[in-house]
Amino acid sequence: MSMPHAPSVLLVDDARDMLELLRRSVNAMGLTPFTADNAVDAIGILEQGPVDVVITDLNMPGVSGIQLVRYLGEHHPRIPVLVITGYPKLEDAVQVMKLGAVEYLVKPFTQEELRQAVERVLRAIGAMPSAAPPPATVRDGFHGLLGRSRAMQEVYRVIERTSNNKATVLVTGESGTGKEMVARAIHYNSASAAAPFIAVNCGAIPDQLLESELFGHMKGAFTGATTSRAGFFQAADGGTLFLDEIGNASPAVQAKLLRAIQDKEITMLGATRPQRVDVRLISAANNDLPAMIRQGGFREDLYYRLNLIHIHLPPLRDRTEDLPRLVDHFNHRFSRELGKPPLRITPPVLETFAAYPWPGNVRELEHLVHRLVILLDGTVATSDLPMHMRSPAPRAAVPDTLVSLAAMERQHIRAVLEAVAQNKTKAAAILGIDRKTLRGKLKDPG
Ligand SMILES: Nc1ncnc2c1ncn2[C@@H]1O[C@H](COP(=O)(O)OP(=O)(O)OP(=O)(O)O)[C@@H](O)[C@H]1O
Ligand SMILES: [Mg+2]
Repeated sequence: MSMPHAPSVLLVDDARDMLELLRRSVNAMGLTPFTADNAVDAIGILEQGPVDVVITDLNMPGVSGIQLVRYLGEHHPRIPVLVITGYPKLEDAVQVMKLGAVEYLVKPFTQEELRQAVERVLRAIGAMPSAAPPPATVRDGFHGLLGRSRAMQEVYRVIERTSNNKATVLVTGESGTGKEMVARAIHYNSASAAAPFIAVNCGAIPDQLLESELFGHMKGAFTGATTSRAGFFQAADGGTLFLDEIGNASPAVQAKLLRAIQDKEITMLGATRPQRVDVRLISAANNDLPAMIRQGGFREDLYYRLNLIHIHLPPLRDRTEDLPRLVDHFNHRFSRELGKPPLRITPPVLETFAAYPWPGNVRELEHLVHRLVILLDGTVATSDLPMHMRSPAPRAAVPDTLVSLAAMERQHIRAVLEAVAQNKTKAAAILGIDRKTLRGKLKDPG
């Protein structure tokens, strides 16, 4: 956030305790908060002075949050709006997105989720006038993504190539590697940064519902459809629709997606005529789509349509050079949040991290550092780490595949001795040799 002045945030919520919580969080972010407990007062504040961002609740007595968002869209179209909504009111989310809200936060949310959402919104307004791409040097990070590894540099470079087109992007990678972060980076680095970014988890919404959520439905399209309702495609018009876990889309949804991409138009459920939409599609998958295609579970033609640009995020264990930077970032962020000095992470701890395979990738690292910050003060030692990280994993036990048998043997003996607190009798028993042989091996030079 490199703004000339501290950005000001107008907070609107009829619940006083919520308003106070928001005010304190925004203050802690170094931003200037204004508060209003109703929409009329909020409009008064807007007319008085510069407001950079508005965060508003939707359900308020009197003038509703939706009306406030509409007012902002008409009178202050440059002020981004972050809307707070209760789950699962998808209708509201869709409606406010259409009115121009940039982000919505689902209640209940953590302080961290609020902070990230506000930063994204601020980045969006900071990103609008930017045109010149940063120099092609080694970058520390890009739109919140951190890492200097070769793999991440390539990711940043490809994201940049998506900025002035609307090509579909497929992001693949194991769980927790940052697929959604990449999708957001693409959106906020694009010319459509001020338009909505809408994320839909295709794996979390039941099949029949997903179709109407995505494309909308007309009144009477199915039992229970008492009103017409727009879908996520309409809500994301002009912006980005992020289809997470695309491998879970049903054949019916796949067919409709294919048509939406080919014809740039969609048909609401129960509608007779299609409508045009202008949406960039980014999809993410952590399953192997080509394998699904071979087994008949995913349409090949759709795969190629979704995959004009492909970004693959390598697992964290394959870019361990990014570990120190990520650890440092999470350590500082969570410490700041808890109002305590950051932990001192010792080199052996970082070495343990580098040897650990991180099945949950960056998310697992983030959670671990969060736990450590909560539980510890001062210095972190390897003994503070969870047991499963400390016990030598197969990867850690084999430093290199190109070592001699003798070197492997020495390493194994050392590991066993360590496990039994240097008790040679026990070690010999485990190794299946007698104590004399063990002593001989220990004397062996090297
Ligand atoms: N390069 C990165 N720099 C900083 N934070 C990151 C990076 N990659 C991931 N994260 C953080 O790790 C967490 C997981 O990221 P994200 O949700 O984007 O992963 P994902 O690939 O979508 O995971 P899943 O497959 O489980 O949905 C997030 O909290 C995100 O902020
Ligand atoms: Mg994800």
